[in-house]
Amino acid sequence: MIDRIKTLLKEVDELKANNAEELEALRIKYLSKKGEISALMNDFRNVAAEQKREVGQFLNELKEAAQEKINTLKEEFSNTGNVDTDIDLSRTSYPIALGTRHPISIVKKEICDIFARLGFSIAEGPEIEDDWHVFSSLNFAEDHPARDMQDTFFIQHNPDVLLRTHTSSVQTRVMEKQEPPIRIICPGRVYRNEAISYRAHCFFHQVEALYVDKDVSFADLKQALLFFAKELFGQDTKIRLRPSYFPFTEPSAEMDISCNLCGGKGCPFCKHTGWVEILGCGMVDPNVLENCGINSKIYTGYALGMGVERITNLKYQVKDLRMFSENDVRFLRQFESAN
Ligand code: DAH
Repeated sequence: MIDRIKTLLKEVDELKANNAEELEALRIKYLSKKGEISALMNDFRNVAAEQKREVGQFLNELKEAAQEKINTLKEEFSNTGNVDTDIDLSRTSYPIALGTRHPISIVKKEICDIFARLGFSIAEGPEIEDDWHVFSSLNFAEDHPARDMQDTFFIQHNPDVLLRTHTSSVQTRVMEKQEPPIRIICPGRVYRNEAISYRAHCFFHQVEALYVDKDVSFADLKQALLFFAKELFGQDTKIRLRPSYFPFTEPSAEMDISCNLCGGKGCPFCKHTGWVEILGCGMVDPNVLENCGINSKIYTGYALGMGVERITNLKYQVKDLRMFSENDVRFLRQFESAN
């Protein structure tokens, strides 16, 4: 019997388990009621009285060694993160590392929410567009430079399939289908063939607004712009409109806001002018209305469009535009509190 115990002692010492099931099998083999050690305990009754002491000591040693070995193997599992027999499978998997909203999404939503409060609803259009919706319907002349391959991405050299260069294409898509009154806000991604640098990218985001109804005037546009600027940048914000040119609006303007970094006093960011440009706007050109089947004698409208990255830069002073598309969580996590 002592020999048998010694063999088992050696065996136990060399035990190995690769997973929880194997470990459980070992426990059953050695320590369970029907296991090796129990069997030896039973045989122990038949051991001659004069040998009982010696055999008993060996037996105890074996029992302890087996117990200890199984415990050690178990601990190894929990330390290495392997499946533990004690694991609670009903436990929730929290804490889950939650992501944060992208700064562009935060600002885009903020812009849309402000216009929603003025009664605008969201409209969307395709990013892969045709010439009509991006250029022709919007009154772009045949030889307008934006139609050049250098500015616009065309697909497979087909000049009628291109990546939209602005969200103004959604204006046309909606006006073709819907009768006025139309009051829409169109957020979306746009593409331009630009060399990538800290201040330009080949894709970025815009938000477009369009309001078409009877008697819509430039005064309505100006009031909406003032409301928008104050809501987005704070009630002290001032706006200024400068005459400009866009093929699809007449008259056209660009809107500046008082620099929110220096409060209008002048700083490097606003190039010491106290003003920063944030959007283009104007009264929808009657040609555009007619192109979409809307009677320009009855209806008028205003439109405006802005770059979301530019506004985000203004709000959060992001110096390098490339940060927005690099997916660096150290950058992205900084906007958590703005969620
Ligand atoms: N589409 C113009 C751009 O990408 C922005 C713009 C200007 C949109 C004036 C408008 C507008 O709706 O009225 O630069």
